[in-house]
Amino acid sequence: MGEKEIPERIETKIPGLDEMLNGGFFKGTVNVVSGGSGTGKTIFGAQFIYKGVIENDEKVMCIITSEESRSIVREMKTSFGWDFEKLVDEGKIVFVDITDPALRLQKSVEIAPSELIKSFKKLVESKIEEIKPQRVFVDSIEALFLAIESNYKLRTLIDDVFGVFRKHDATTVISVGTMFDLDKMVEYGADSVIQLGRVKTKEAFHRSIYVMKMRGSKTSNELRALNISDSGMSVLPTPPYSEG
Ligand SMILES: Nc1ncnc2c1ncn2[C@@H]1O[C@H](COP(=O)(O)OP(=O)(O)OP(=O)(O)O)[C@@H](O)[C@H]1O
Ligand SMILES: [Mg+2]
Repeated sequence: MGEKEIPERIETKIPGLDEMLNGGFFKGTVNVVSGGSGTGKTIFGAQFIYKGVIENDEKVMCIITSEESRSIVREMKTSFGWDFEKLVDEGKIVFVDITDPALRLQKSVEIAPSELIKSFKKLVESKIEEIKPQRVFVDSIEALFLAIESNYKLRTLIDDVFGVFRKHDATTVISVGTMFDLDKMVEYGADSVIQLGRVKTKEAFHRSIYVMKMRGSKTSNELRALNISDSGMSVLPTPPYSEG
C-alpha cells in the first residue's frame, strides 16, 4: 500500500460500532478495549475474532495471558453457542496460552518482569509470522505489565509490545481491566480506545460504550447503550439511560 493511500478499514463485527468509528478500525493497528469487571471486554474481543472467521473466512489468533482468561472457550459456548473448539480443529483460530508451562515463557518464578515481556514479544512475533492471522485478540494485557514498578519503564514496554503487533498486517484488539490503574497507561499507547462501562439509573445499571480516541479518524463523541444478548454484542443508537 502506498503512503498516500487511505488505510484500509477493518469491520469490528460489533453491530453499530463501525458507524461510531467512521468505518471500523484501521488495518494493522492496536485497539484497546478497557472497562471494569464484567463490562464485556472478553465478549468484545471474542466476537471480533469469531465473526471474522464466520463471516469473512479469516484466520485469527487469540492470546490468553492469565488463568482466568483460559475459560473463554467454555464461556463463549455457554453464552452464545460459539464453537471455538470447532474453529481450532478447522485451523481457523489458533490459541496461544502464555500460561502454558510447555511454552516455558516463565522459565522460573524468579524471572524479571522485563524478561517475561521480552520472551512474550519473541513468542508473539514468531506466532504471527507463522500463522499470519488477519485478526488478533489479547485477553488481557495487564498480567504482562503488573510487576513493572516504574511508570517510565511501563510506557516504554507498552510501546515495545504494541510495536510488535503493528509490524504485521493483523489488526489487534487488546483488553485491559481497570483494577490496577494500568488502563490509563495502556490507553496512551493504543491507536484507538473503546471504553465499556455501566450507567446507573434509579431502577438499574445499563451497559455503555464510548469511543475515547481513534488516531487519524473522526469518531462519534456519544455515550451509547451497549447490548449483550444470546446473539452477541451490539451498540444501540440510544444513550444508555433511555433504554430498558
Ligand atoms: N447471552 C448473554 N446475554 C446477556 N448477557 C450475557 C450473555 N452472556 C454473557 N453475558 C454477560 O456478559 C458479562 C461478561 O462479559 P465479559 O466476560 O466479556 O466481561 P469482562 O469485561 O471480560 O469481565 P472480566 O473483568 O471478568 O474479565 C457477564 O457478566 C454476563 O452477565
Ligand atoms: Mg474478561
